[in-house]
Amino acid sequence: MKNKLFIIFIALIVLTNISCSDKEGNSGMDLSHIPYSPENYDLKLPAHFPNMYIPTDNPITKQGVTLGRNLFYDPILSADSSMSCASCHLPEFNFTDGKSVSVGIDGLPGKRSAMSLINIGFVQAGLFWDGRSKTLEEQALLPVEDPIELHNTWPNVVEKLKVHPKYPTMFREAFGISNTEKITKELAAKAIAQFERIIVSKDSKYDKIQDGKAFYTDLELIGFGLFFDDDPDLPDTECGHCHNVPLATSDDFLITD
Ligand code: HEC
Ligand code: HEC
Repeated sequence: MKNKLFIIFIALIVLTNISCSDKEGNSGMDLSHIPYSPENYDLKLPAHFPNMYIPTDNPITKQGVTLGRNLFYDPILSADSSMSCASCHLPEFNFTDGKSVSVGIDGLPGKRSAMSLINIGFVQAGLFWDGRSKTLEEQALLPVEDPIELHNTWPNVVEKLKVHPKYPTMFREAFGISNTEKITKELAAKAIAQFERIIVSKDSKYDKIQDGKAFYTDLELIGFGLFFDDDPDLPDTECGHCHNVPLATSDDFLITD
């Protein structure tokens, strides 16, 4: 009898443990009932543009771009919910902040200026002023934990995303995850990178002219001739040697040491 009771006791402990670990394994919210059918995002690059390098493990989809756009503009990424990526990369300032150096959530100035993100998907030589970040996926992880930018932690952001009213569905639709526990900083960064790759300058006057859809004024034509050393009657300014066509950048770094 004593033995029987003991066995039941042990069995109960084992069962409780199993149900506990089951609970942990299945914690989070099931998302598998939400349809997952990502659609290719057509970048529609103008004819005079180079091809954009897109990593094979992060193709641009409509659903990924939607998620990335939401994350980019959402102050949920900062510790005190006061700033988002767009606070320093404002669309109305060509995705810069118009300041000589950027200021983060604690009011502390950084050392550098936030550069434009227009045509950022074409950059291959390295991101940031010193090229220290290789890919948009890698770069997007950094501002969240930078003490003079969003000054947050990724575990904190990910926990908020998991219980958010809209993000779990968006992560499911973008990446096919089956449970909110599968939301990670890497997926968030991938979505942000997808959104950044669609920020292209195809509607600028320069681009329209290249595609024969607009014309320079007389004064602009002189500027063009100067900039690209294109007019033998005008002095050469050499601008176009470093600000190469069509993206107005040489996408390289001057090694000075
Ligand atoms: C507090 C202001 C601030 C916030 C917030 C911020 N950035 Fe930036 N960003 C900068 C500054 C300053 C640089 C240049 C830093 C450097 O070169 O060291 C930069 C550089 C970049 C670059 C490199 C661009 C290039 O041409 O190489 C990318 C991409 C970028 N930021 C994306 C983001 C994303 C995505 C977020 C949100 C997750 C974000 N930024 C949030 C200020 C900010
Ligand atoms: C030797 C290469 C070189 C030449 C020639 C050159 N630039 Fe630049 N330009 C650069 C570099 C590098 C930067 C970024 C410098 C920095 O911010 O520290 C820059 C930055 C700029 C910027 C600021 C861009 C921004 O996003 O803030 C403008 C505008 C500009 N150049 C216009 C011109 C014009 C106009 C000419 C010709 C009169 C010219 N450049 C000639 C290399 C060059």
